[in-house]
Amino acid sequence: MATPHISAEPGDFAPAVLMPGDPKRAERIANQILDNPRLVTDVRGMLGFTGTYQGKPLSVMGSGMGQPSATIYATELFKFFDVQRIIRVGTCGGIAPQVKVGDTVVAMGAHTDSSMNAQRIPTIHFSAVASYGLIAAAMREALEGPGAVEGKIHVGTIVSKDHFYFSPEGVTEQLAAYGVLGVEMEAAALYGVAAELGREALTVLTVSDHLFDHSGDMSAEDRETRFATALRLAAAAALS
Ligand code: HPA
Repeated sequence: MATPHISAEPGDFAPAVLMPGDPKRAERIANQILDNPRLVTDVRGMLGFTGTYQGKPLSVMGSGMGQPSATIYATELFKFFDVQRIIRVGTCGGIAPQVKVGDTVVAMGAHTDSSMNAQRIPTIHFSAVASYGLIAAAMREALEGPGAVEGKIHVGTIVSKDHFYFSPEGVTEQLAAYGVLGVEMEAAALYGVAAELGREALTVLTVSDHLFDHSGDMSAEDRETRFATALRLAAAAALS
């Protein structure tokens, strides 16, 4: 049964979905790591693929940019396609000084300036956190997986913002003072949907630029290719 935003049938998606923001990145990941990938949905160009990875079924689907878009796709995948876990793979801007371009961030929790989670439980400041089992699986791969992982891996909080191009004065500095590792635009909402529907979620990010030091920022092309470590950790978590 198709949903308003996904033109697939029950069983077309694997229990685990890797979710980059960009649908073209979804296609690239599917072609890169899946055996026998097949396109299962393309509504609005939001491509979704299913195949196998290391012999187990795995899907990859884009989320689009921002929390409303990610919420729509995550909700439909969890509710109507029996997806059990979604692992977002993407890029973030570095905020904490120890985080460098090319490093990997495992987002244990996501602060946000969005109202989406604030609407969930009236009067409550919702805590958007990843599933512990998925964090542990990603870190097992990082620490004990075959071969060394490239770059440093940071585990901690990020911020999921609504604006890409606007930030009130001083906010980024305050986030740095609170130890926030980086900024992106989807994780808090994904964690909110997973909590609402009793499913699992994780976000693993490649640092593509740094908000306080733009000297080493990645080009759009680099963003497409330099996320091997994040992908490896995310895929390990997906199949754990
Ligand atoms: N802001 C939001 N999302 C991002 C950024 C950023 O600076 N860099 C990569 N994704």
